[in-house]
Amino acid sequence: MLDIKPMAGALGAEIRGIDLSVTLTEEDFLRVRKLLNEYQVIFFRESGITPENMRALALSFGPVQAHPAYETVVGFPEITILESKPEAPTKIEAWHTDMTYSEHPPMATMLKSVILPPKGGDTLWSSMTAAYDALSPRMQKFLEGLSAVHDFAFGFKESLAEPGGSERLADAIAAHSPVRHPVIRSHPETGKKAIFVNSLFTTHIEGLRREESDAVLSFLFEHVKTDEFTCRFQWGPDCLALWDNRCTQHRPINDYFPAHRRMERITIDGDKPF
Ligand SMILES: [Fe+2]
Repeated sequence: MLDIKPMAGALGAEIRGIDLSVTLTEEDFLRVRKLLNEYQVIFFRESGITPENMRALALSFGPVQAHPAYETVVGFPEITILESKPEAPTKIEAWHTDMTYSEHPPMATMLKSVILPPKGGDTLWSSMTAAYDALSPRMQKFLEGLSAVHDFAFGFKESLAEPGGSERLADAIAAHSPVRHPVIRSHPETGKKAIFVNSLFTTHIEGLRREESDAVLSFLFEHVKTDEFTCRFQWGPDCLALWDNRCTQHRPINDYFPAHRRMERITIDGDKPF
C-alpha cells in the first residue's frame, strides 16, 4: 500500500510502500517519477537500498553524472561520497541547486545516509516554483529572459583557498568554464516556472550593471529561503532522499561538528535549462 506523508505546504513527502531494496518494477518506477514531479523532494526511511539498486534507480531516469571534486564509492564511480570529519569538515553551507556550473545540471539528485551524527545534520529544501509563483507579475516579467552566469570556481572558492586546494582542483577548474543559464527556467515535465539562480554558484546576471545584478541576486537569494517555500528533513538510518534539481534548492545544516557524517550521492543527467 502506497503511503504518502506530505511534510510541508510547498514541497516534500515521506513515502512508504515502495520497496527500494529490490529492483523496481516499471509500475513502481513510474510511481516514483510521478511523486517526484508532485512533491519535488521525496524521502524513503530505512530504505534498504544497495549501491547497485541506487545506481539502477538513477539509470531508470537517465544517464548519471560524475562529480569532479569528490571521492567515489569503491566499485561505483558514479556514487560520490559526501563526508564531514573533524579533520575535514564540510564547507558547503549556502543554499544551492546542485552543479549549476554545468551546461547540463542534474535533473535530480539521490542522497543516502550512511553515517549520521548523534544529533543535528538536518537538510532543508526550498521549492523554486513556489518562490517564482510568489513574485509579483512585474518582477516575474523582469526576470524572464535574463541570463545568469554560474561558475564552478566561485562555488568551490573555500576549497581553493585551502593549502593544496588550487592544485587539487586545477583539472576540474580547467574543465569547467563559467556557463550561462536562464534566471527563470521551465520544468520540462510539469511546465512550471522556477527561479534558477543560487548563492553558491551564480556570480552575476548578464546585461545588468554589477550593482544592479548584486541587488537583484541578493533579493532573490533572500527570497528563495522564505520559510513558507521550505521543508526540513531529519535523517535516520539508511534514508534515501530524491530531489528534483530543476525546481528546488537545498541547504545542509552544519550543526554537528566535530561528529562524523557520511552520505552517498548520485546525480542524474539533466537537460540544458530553458
Ligand atoms: Fe547539494
